[in-house]
Amino acid sequence: MTEKNAILKVEGHDDISLPIYTPTMGQDVIDVASLTGKGLFTFDPGFTSTASCESKITYIDGEKGQLLHRGYSIEELANKSDYLEVCYLLLFGELPTAEQKESFVSTVKNHTMVHEQLQFFYRGFRRDAHPMAVMCGVVGALSAFYHDSTDIKNPMHREVTAYRLIAKMPTIAAMCYKYSAGQPFMYPRNDLSYSENFLHMMFGTPCEESKISPVLAKAMDRIFILHADHEQNASTSTVRLAGSSGANPFACIAAGISALWGPAHGGANEAVLNMLDQIGDVSNIDAYIAKAKDKNDPFKLMGFGHRVYKNYDPRASVMRESCHEVLNELGIHDPQLELAMKLEEIALSDPYFKEKKLFPNVDFYSGIILKAMGIPTSMFTVIFALSRTVGWIAHWNEMISNPYKIGRPRQLYTGYDERKFTPVNERK
Ligand code: SDX
Repeated sequence: MTEKNAILKVEGHDDISLPIYTPTMGQDVIDVASLTGKGLFTFDPGFTSTASCESKITYIDGEKGQLLHRGYSIEELANKSDYLEVCYLLLFGELPTAEQKESFVSTVKNHTMVHEQLQFFYRGFRRDAHPMAVMCGVVGALSAFYHDSTDIKNPMHREVTAYRLIAKMPTIAAMCYKYSAGQPFMYPRNDLSYSENFLHMMFGTPCEESKISPVLAKAMDRIFILHADHEQNASTSTVRLAGSSGANPFACIAAGISALWGPAHGGANEAVLNMLDQIGDVSNIDAYIAKAKDKNDPFKLMGFGHRVYKNYDPRASVMRESCHEVLNELGIHDPQLELAMKLEEIALSDPYFKEKKLFPNVDFYSGIILKAMGIPTSMFTVIFALSRTVGWIAHWNEMISNPYKIGRPRQLYTGYDERKFTPVNERK
């Protein structure tokens, strides 16, 4: 990083010189760390202008609608790679050779089973518990099973934890679904690919051999790729913050799952389907667009808008293409897809959405594919969490394997001055 300097002029202070760092790609950053020593804080609720860390994993250009993982575009990866190869790339920084890939896939396969005791955690939940609640609990509990690999300073412990989490999340996710459906858990099978195995554990039964559609397996794998990582989003920042205290990686991933659950973040895919149900018919679109524009109405167009993308989310474009492929292959005519496309067309032609640069994001189309694959709406964010686990782990590992400090933001305090305690019998 080449250093330039910014000069900050603050009344009552000498000029303050702040280093500016120039990245490989994107905006310059101003290092404000020295301000606390001068009795000043920066103020940036929601971190709209704050770079929380240095990273080499993912780059997003919101204006161009560009997303790169270790320099490779999401379009190329979605069309030419597969999820486990993208996992290797995110974790180790390079695409694997054929030999490295074979070894990585084999190691993941040999970690797909969960401890037999773990199944009893599910029985503590009601059958109608939201699968995300179950996943939060079960993943957090994994730290109770792996005392042999929670020394975060040990690179080998960090690596085996990455394998365990990437390998076990599909098993845990499918168990969340099976438990809610009252069906027996399915064991993973090592003769299937990562995505085929997930569909087997989701929809297979002990009564017959699983028949996995190659079209659905490819679509599932592409959905996993599109959700794998996305720079310092809310859930990844949560994982980094939890990890900065030295918490074990399973607890950090459970924190990330919790943050992802919100409808403003990973919960949006479920919220999009619920919104399309609410709109119901093309004739109601204009009324809902008006609600989305009304400052006094809390309704937002789910699946639209993004903190970083002020252009089309490149993942949404790939997802939209997959949507048509999957529905055509399955011969499904889904009125919700038609409704979604009409909603997109009307919204993108509306001045409000154009001025505020609100485009469809990754969540707008993903729910329609997942629904076409027979996956219940309540499982959508679970699948997002499954896929994003590799991104969370890659960022956690990048932080822990370099010098870091515990994350501890400050505040703008606007509460009371100090005042004396009043005994209860003297209070008015
Ligand atoms: C993900 O960060 C990531 O990278 C996340 C993610 C990832 O891969 O990790 O990409 C995944 O979370 C995608 C986003 C999914 N969420 C949704 O689809 C929910 C609907 N979208 C909004 O809640 C919103 O757009 C956010 C939360 C995504 C972004 O919010 P920001 O950046 O805080 O922007 P904002 O809320 O300040 O909006 C700016 C303006 C506001 O109007 P003004 O106050 O300026 O007048 O745009 C309006 C907002 O009211 N606006 C919307 C809108 N989104 C923003 N108006 C109507 N409908 C919307 N969807």
